[in-house]
Amino acid sequence: MTNWTLAARAAKMNPSVIREILKVTEKPGIISLAGGLPSPKTFPIDAFAKACGAVLSQDGPSALQYAASEGYQPLRQAVADFLPWDVSVDQVLITTGSQQGLDLVAKVLIDAGSRILVETPTYLGAIQAFAPMEPDVVSVASDDEGMQIDDLAHKTGSGAGQARFLYVLPNFQNPTGRTMSEARRAALVAKAAELNLPLIEDNPYGDLWFDQPPPAPLTARNPEGCIYLGSFSKVLAPGLRLGFIVAPKAVFPKLLQAKQAADLHSPGFNQRMVHEVMKGGFLGRHVPTIRALYKQQRDAMLQALTREMAGLDVQWNTPDGGMFLWVRLPEGMSAIDLLPEAVDRNVAFVPGAAFYADNADHRTLRLSFVTASAEQISTGVGSLAAAIRARVAQKA
Ligand SMILES: Cc1ncc(COP(=O)(O)O)c(C=O)c1O
Repeated sequence: MTNWTLAARAAKMNPSVIREILKVTEKPGIISLAGGLPSPKTFPIDAFAKACGAVLSQDGPSALQYAASEGYQPLRQAVADFLPWDVSVDQVLITTGSQQGLDLVAKVLIDAGSRILVETPTYLGAIQAFAPMEPDVVSVASDDEGMQIDDLAHKTGSGAGQARFLYVLPNFQNPTGRTMSEARRAALVAKAAELNLPLIEDNPYGDLWFDQPPPAPLTARNPEGCIYLGSFSKVLAPGLRLGFIVAPKAVFPKLLQAKQAADLHSPGFNQRMVHEVMKGGFLGRHVPTIRALYKQQRDAMLQALTREMAGLDVQWNTPDGGMFLWVRLPEGMSAIDLLPEAVDRNVAFVPGAAFYADNADHRTLRLSFVTASAEQISTGVGSLAAAIRARVAQKA
């Protein structure tokens, strides 16, 4: 048998806890509140069918040919025009999902041992993307309004040990669903500029607001100090694997070179289809339908939680958009321990511990309110409450 010697960095690559849990959710009859999958009801299949025909008949040979690493120029322009601050098309790099944006940022900005800062908790997929570059990941304390500025100043470090960047999700964060307040955004951007700390702003959920749009992005306030990551996954479809980076001129060429080495370019056919679909203001008509559906589903989850968790010391938040809601179990109860009990009762969630870079709060868990139907949410939350009650009874 061949003895393969793996790179040391391979040891830093771990299976996503979420993907492992998703395997469990394939068990027949299980209601999954675990995955972060957009509702397939929102995928504009007819619009794509039309766009597909149009792209092939109008531009087939180019759509199927190798292309520029920067991306399809008209799509880059559409992204620049869509964003709510002054973005030059030269700053837009089309990526294979915003997940690739995270990978490119990691390659360009992290050396082994570099300090990088994240929220508490943060997006698991970002920790995974950063890990092979062997950073020292440090969590900054965060509350319902977002990251705490005082702690940021303590954690940034100085000189050669200064953090390379702060990774932040201001809108309807994955996993908590929380949104950074206007005051906190203003204070964060000012503090980061004072500390000379670059910001990586990840915003795949910003358009999925329910009652009012969130405050302006951090990047809009200081474009030279931020790299912005966007995605078409949540407003069109994740299977397209298309996202984008908006980067200052100082780092754009290096991100582009990293992109070239990674995959030459994102699929030109998909880029043209998205551009074709977006023409004529499609997103302006389509995204409100996603917002309306997800708001209804969030409300179904809130109602079920209020009804089913009565009398239990369980807390949850009320997200103003996005796909996730954050729950805290009674004192002394671990979400990891609760999961098998919940799966026995045919409901799955993601234990919150997966999303902490350090010092996990084991009482937390993430629920998605978009993939299951309102009826399934109601049943699933009932089963979750039954599992919690069983645990409480075991302890008594
Ligand atoms: C916060 C965050 N960033 C990035 C991604 C990756 O999205 P995609 O690669 O589909 O654009 C996700 C996916 O769930 C996410 O939640």
